[in-house]
Amino acid sequence: MENPSVKGKRLAAEKAIEYIRPGMTLGLGTGSTAYWAIQGIGNLVKEGMAVKAVATSVQSESLARELNIPIIPFSEVDRLDITIDGADEVDKELNLIKGGGGALLREKIVAAVTKFYIIIVDESKLVDKLGKFPLPVEIAPFAWELTMRKLAALGCTPHMRMAGDKPYLTDNSHYILDCAFGVINDPAKLHEQVSAITGVMEDGFFNGMADVVIAGTAGGETRVITRNGKSK
Ligand code: 5RP
Repeated sequence: MENPSVKGKRLAAEKAIEYIRPGMTLGLGTGSTAYWAIQGIGNLVKEGMAVKAVATSVQSESLARELNIPIIPFSEVDRLDITIDGADEVDKELNLIKGGGGALLREKIVAAVTKFYIIIVDESKLVDKLGKFPLPVEIAPFAWELTMRKLAALGCTPHMRMAGDKPYLTDNSHYILDCAFGVINDPAKLHEQVSAITGVMEDGFFNGMADVVIAGTAGGETRVITRNGKSK
């Protein structure tokens, strides 16, 4: 039997694929949920649909290339029609925490130029308030201890993300500090405070960016949640 979380992710991705039309330029997300969306886009390409895409990580780019999805360089992109990406947490206002997969900086660059930004999750990612998932913060390796202390001063416990016995390096050769704040009552204010720290390259808050969140359930359904708070 398919794992319920995997099923939710796959179903959400399949629903998101329905928004894609021929000729679109797409943003490809990163992670185990975005994986299903990339597979679905690969199927559309196989069936003859002409689309092109930019990827938010080296990993997603290589998967897309395996599936013959035409990848274009960022230098050729000003606007993307649709991006489909996952998230680690989604609150009731569709604010997100992202970056569990380490691709937050590229993901946010892509999200910021996307006309219709679709987030796909399994239902376990829907929360009342953000913060159970520690906020990933991508930082410059130079003087990282100083940046870490400044983040801690905002009220969190930061942990260096590791890859074995060395700090994990992002595709941009930065470090990630996973910052456990506990319940976050004001994501916009905290984003402002975190971003104001020199040495922070980007944080995992994606506030007010998602146009729609599609949540797949273990029971085999999808909930499409729009920004005005309505569930369809
Ligand atoms: C990568 C991300 C992912 O979208 C997020 O971590 C969710 O991952 P998954 O779909 O594997 O649960 O932000 O940087």
